[in-house]
Amino acid sequence: ADNSVAQIQKKGYIVMGTSPDYPPYEFISKGKNGSQIYGADVELGKEIAKDLGVKLKVKAMGFDSLLVGLQTKKVDMVIAGMNENPQRAKSVDFSKSYYSSGLSLVINSGDAKKIHSYHDLEGKSVGAQIGTVQYDAVKKGIKNVKLKGIENINDLILALKSGKIAAIPMDTAVAQAYASHNPGLKIIGAKMPNQSSANNVAFAKGATSLKNAANHTIDKVNKQNLYVKKFVPTAAKYITDN
Ligand code: ARG
Repeated sequence: ADNSVAQIQKKGYIVMGTSPDYPPYEFISKGKNGSQIYGADVELGKEIAKDLGVKLKVKAMGFDSLLVGLQTKKVDMVIAGMNENPQRAKSVDFSKSYYSSGLSLVINSGDAKKIHSYHDLEGKSVGAQIGTVQYDAVKKGIKNVKLKGIENINDLILALKSGKIAAIPMDTAVAQAYASHNPGLKIIGAKMPNQSSANNVAFAKGATSLKNAANHTIDKVNKQNLYVKKFVPTAAKYITDN
């Protein structure tokens, strides 16, 4: 049997890896004690830690380094608004789904008359976060697209505002957060082929007791709809304009 839970409990803390550029899932904001990582995923991480009887430590990494971070044991779990998919499941194990918000495109309000769906992006410059399912969806799903892969969503937003790219696909809750804090931006629904938007927690392969413990917490969270009713609203209070 694996001893992943025993190891965490012996350490007294669990390390959650995340890419804090994805409000309301995870983002950096100034709190009483300086800049800190907040987010609904952090609240979920705290709940998993609490049920294990340990403390939560949050480690910020680039989104495309998170799964390697699990394999090299830099982090014990990844909660990053991440979707399970067959390619990722080859290298890590996923929990049950804890949330799903859909897929949207963020565009400049000034382009709203020209861009109604991802078909209108054919031949245009589109930005996507490196390593995400959206990056692959744009690459495979939009004809003659000029795809700009950028590591951080905040930099993508700047590229969009300055007109370097015409659109960014992202999870709907995140698109809403950015649009509501940036008056010049607008969101449009974007059904792309092969897109699941269910979010799952990732674990190193073989950390089965830990994954089972997290699933137990997620069952409880889902039953009480805590992610939507408690975790997202708690996080939303800390989102600031940028
Ligand atoms: N849901 C997408 C994926 O799994 C994007 C997640 C990006 N997350 C982040 N924290 N920046 O690929």
